[in-house]
Amino acid sequence: MKRRRKKLILIIVILLALSIICFSSVIYLNKRKEPNDNMNNNPTKDNEPINKDIDPLEIALRNEKYFLEKNLSRYLSYAKENPDIDAKEVITRINTNLDYAFYTHDIDSNLDDGLLIIVNKYHKLPSDYEPELVEMDSKYVNWGTRYMHPTAYEHLVEMIEDAKEDGIKLFSVSPYRSYKTQEDTYNGYVAKDGVEKTDTYSARPGYSEHQTGLAVDLNTTDENAHFEDSKEGIWLKENAYKYGFILRYPEDKVYITGYIFEPWHYRYVGTEVAKYINENQITFDEYYAFFIEK
Ligand code: DAL
Ligand code: ZN
Repeated sequence: MKRRRKKLILIIVILLALSIICFSSVIYLNKRKEPNDNMNNNPTKDNEPINKDIDPLEIALRNEKYFLEKNLSRYLSYAKENPDIDAKEVITRINTNLDYAFYTHDIDSNLDDGLLIIVNKYHKLPSDYEPELVEMDSKYVNWGTRYMHPTAYEHLVEMIEDAKEDGIKLFSVSPYRSYKTQEDTYNGYVAKDGVEKTDTYSARPGYSEHQTGLAVDLNTTDENAHFEDSKEGIWLKENAYKYGFILRYPEDKVYITGYIFEPWHYRYVGTEVAKYINENQITFDEYYAFFIEK
């Protein structure tokens, strides 16, 4: 009887030990599985992502700040054709249509965009487009009767007057230009310099933002000065955004804008947008693509 009890106790102890071993194994194996469960969202260096279908290039593009879903296939083909260009730069180029040559991919400027209307080598204005205009006071222009969009003009006056208090003399040498004026201007340059060179500094008719009344070329009283190095040019670069104006054709963005550096050409976009563009050092073309056109 005693021996049978001992045997029973032994069997119970063995069964208990086996259950403990089984239970611990299950817990251990489950724990090991956990990191893999996260890998769908968060691939780690040591582990292969479960979803092998997502191209790493696409992941890199999607992680970029100015990624636009509608441009994905263009990003991918551009990136594959240009493997040395990083994802950020691919996004910039495609958003600004640089996968098409200038003047080969016309889009009508959206006249409903108001103060944020875009005009560039891809966005074109109709030949009969005339914005709302006001006559400028002669003290702000170098000659003749000149016009600007009333909102841009109001802020230009404020800027010129504040600049004056800092000892900075500014006036407009070219504000609004009609389609016809731009046509004559451009054709005059072509006669002198040919199409290729003229296209680097003068817009073809319909493609000039001077036709919006929101752009203005500024200068000092000394027209021979290198404007970018003059105290007026420096003041503008540092302060224009506070009045809603941006330097539209910066030195390091020539490949995006298609125009040489124009330290005198300022475009009114409003203070909020000007501040964003200034802080983020992007062109209006990039801003427009991501925030307005998208
Ligand atoms: N010079 C600028 C690009 C224009 O012609 O509008
Ligand atoms: Zn200009």
